[in-house]
Order: sequence, then structure tokens, then C-alpha cells
Amino acid sequence: MLQGKKILLGVTGGIAAYKAVDITSRLRKAGAEVRVVMTRAATNFVTELTFREMSGNPVSVDMWAPVQHWNVAHIALAEWADLVLVAPATANVLAKAALGIADDMLTTTLLATTSPIFFAPAMNCNMYANPAVRENIDKLATRGAHMIAPGTGTLACGAEGLGRLAEPANIVAALENFFAEGAQLFGVKVLVTAAGTIEPIDPVRYIGNRSSGRMGYALAEEAIARGADVVLVSGPSSLTPPVGLKRFVSVETAKEMRNAVLREAENSRIIIKAAAVADYHPKTVSEQKIKKNDEELSIVLEKNPDILKELGEKKRAGQILVGFAAETQKLLEFARAKIQKKNLDFIVANDVTKPGAGFNTATNLAKIISRDGSIEELPLMTKRELAKRIFDFVLPDELK
Ligand code: PMT
Repeated sequence: MLQGKKILLGVTGGIAAYKAVDITSRLRKAGAEVRVVMTRAATNFVTELTFREMSGNPVSVDMWAPVQHWNVAHIALAEWADLVLVAPATANVLAKAALGIADDMLTTTLLATTSPIFFAPAMNCNMYANPAVRENIDKLATRGAHMIAPGTGTLACGAEGLGRLAEPANIVAALENFFAEGAQLFGVKVLVTAAGTIEPIDPVRYIGNRSSGRMGYALAEEAIARGADVVLVSGPSSLTPPVGLKRFVSVETAKEMRNAVLREAENSRIIIKAAAVADYHPKTVSEQKIKKNDEELSIVLEKNPDILKELGEKKRAGQILVGFAAETQKLLEFARAKIQKKNLDFIVANDVTKPGAGFNTATNLAKIISRDGSIEELPLMTKRELAKRIFDFVLPDELK
């Protein structure tokens, strides 16, 4: 996707500047031509020489350096770029860009370019949460800049939290998605849930189900391939989250899944709930490991919230809500009842007793049922292929 694309990489003065070297290398390997503009502060972390060698092009830092061509340098770079990526983007550069300040080569180029701009913020978690930074990010996003959200983890300052530069592979994947042919879902937020929830009985035991996450992860991969901003909320799974996610939220219980899903749902255009949510949880969770003293043990179960039903009640105009139905009998009848009860647009019904279908298989056998009653009956296929067919089927005309 990046073959022959001209990417202008802006590197600013944060510790994550060293990761921009990896980004440069990955962009070139993907076929892009890369030019680098550094802020003066960034040169304290990585030298110009490193980026010159990695990009194979001269590096710009100084506004007042003699120009190489008869062209004003920042205008030349701004016009040259098919896309501008600022990674890492410090709080300082976000603030300057939001205000339109142009006091160095990078910020001047940002003002002068008409190409798409991507920012990959990286900073201390308290700085990232600061209302001033949030406002600047919102302002830039409203003007059409693309944000590649940071990840959570241990930060260079020793703090734990949100603010770590997104993984270089994910940053490059975000640019690839942007240029992807058929990036029909670019800028569209898609929320996918995957895997089963687990409900604790005591510190070492839980009630769970057989969902591996394969169906949900395949749906997330398909949405990423179509250029969407994908948030994947997943119960425990041994799978690696797909590259290119906007956000990965790991949960354990139905209650945690509900909180994460409701937080993400509001501005999601498409929501697909492939997760196998436990319908009940133990009413009391023993603080200590339960001893096997008695011949019988009864556990009282209490109903979990029905997340999908809640989403159906809150559904806003234009939102597309897709549920799954895992059935062992009366597939169509039960699946249709769920469409009505949960106010869904579509339901993907799988009879999990059929060979190759349902839990922890590479394949699935499904029927996609629309609210109007029409049915798309599909043969056995891989979950990745099914994910593609589901998107083909549920997308409204304006997104096709
Ligand atoms: O993960 P894999 O191993 O690949 O397996 C895939 C799968 C079999 C889990 C998947 O294809 C599937 O069928 N997922 C839905 C399983 C399920 O919980 O079905 P259900 O009929 O119990 O629930 C119906 C719908 O309501 C589902 O979209 C479910 O996410 C949702 N739900 C259910 C209960 C609840 N408390 N809250 C919910 O949101």
C-alpha cells in the first residue's frame, strides 16, 4: 500500500524519538520514500545522521539552513508529501499545531501542507490526560487530522498508564490502511467484541465457556483491512490482537465487558458482538479457595447484564448493531427472537453443534439474518472469510 508513497516524518523531542528510527525503516521496507523533519529538541534524543542514513535523504531541522533547491524549503516539503506523520507527537507540538504556531521547520511545514496529517502522540500519562492536551487533540481531529492513539504501559518516566507511543508496526499499518484501496471504512469507528467472559467463583476458579476469540478477532482484522478505526473488546484469549487496532481492551467478566462496550459504543458506527458473554455469575465470590470438604457444592448464580440488549435500547440513528446467536437447536427461531428482543439490525446465527462450526474452530457455518427477515445462508468457510461476508452484507449503501 505504501509503494512509491512520499511520507514526511516529523520527529519531535520526546524519549520515543528513538522509535521513529524503526518507523522510518518500516516505511522504507514497505516501499515508501521518507523524508524526515526534526525539531531541535528531537536532536537531543537521536541525531540527524541516524535519520539521514535510515531515510536515505537529507534531514531538515533548521529553517534558516541554505536551501538545496530554488524553492522555499518548508513549502517544498509540504508540497512533496503525500502524507505527513508526526511520531512521536509531544504535547508541545500538538499545542503549536492546534494554535497554528509556526516557529520551526516542522510546525511551519504542518501549516503549509494540504496533505493528510497523522499525529502519534507520546507523553507522560498525566500530560496525555490533561484537559489542555485533550482539547488540542480534539481541535486537530475536528480539523481533519488523524490521531494514532498511544498505548498503555510503563512509560519512560516510570509511571504506568496511557501515553506510550503506539507500536511502530501499528503506526505503519494505520498509514497502509489509509492508502488501502477499498479503504471504504476510513474514519468509521467499528466496535467488535470477542472471546468469552469468565466469572470468578473463588481466587482460582471461574465459570467460562469455549469461545477462543477467533470469530471476533477475524471480524476486527476485516474491519482494519477496510480502513476502519477498530476497537476490540476481548475476554481472555490466547490470540494476538491484530495489528492496526485503534484500541484493544482486555476484560474478564461480563460486567467489565459491559463497562468497556458502553464506553466505546456511543461514537461507534458499527458494533458487532461476537463475544460469548456469560449469562450468569456466581452471586458470591469466595475470598479464599473453596475446600472440597462436602460431597456436593451448590453455587447460586445471578443474571449478568445483557450488554447487547442495552446497546439495542440505546441505539442511535445510523448505528448498525450486529449480534451473534450460538444455538444448539431451533437456530432460526431463537436467532429471530434475539433480533427483536435486542433491537438488532442483523444477527449471525451459528448452530454450534454442526461440525466445523462455532467454538474454537478455524471455520464457521452461519446464516446472516436481517431485521426484515431475509436470510443469507452461507456454506462452511473460514472465520476470516465469514468476517468478510458479514461486512459485505451489513454495510449500508453509503459505506459500500
Ligand atoms: O470465539 P470462537 O471460538 O471463534 O467462537 C465463536 C462463537 C461461537 C463464540 C461466535 O460465533 C458466537 O456465536 N458468538 C455469540 C455467542 C453467544 O453468546 O451467543 P448468545 O446467543 O448467548 O448471545 C446472543 C448475543 O447477545 C451475542 O451477540 C452476545 O455477545 C450477546 N450477549 C449475550 C449475553 C449477555 N449477557 N450479553 C450480551 O451482549
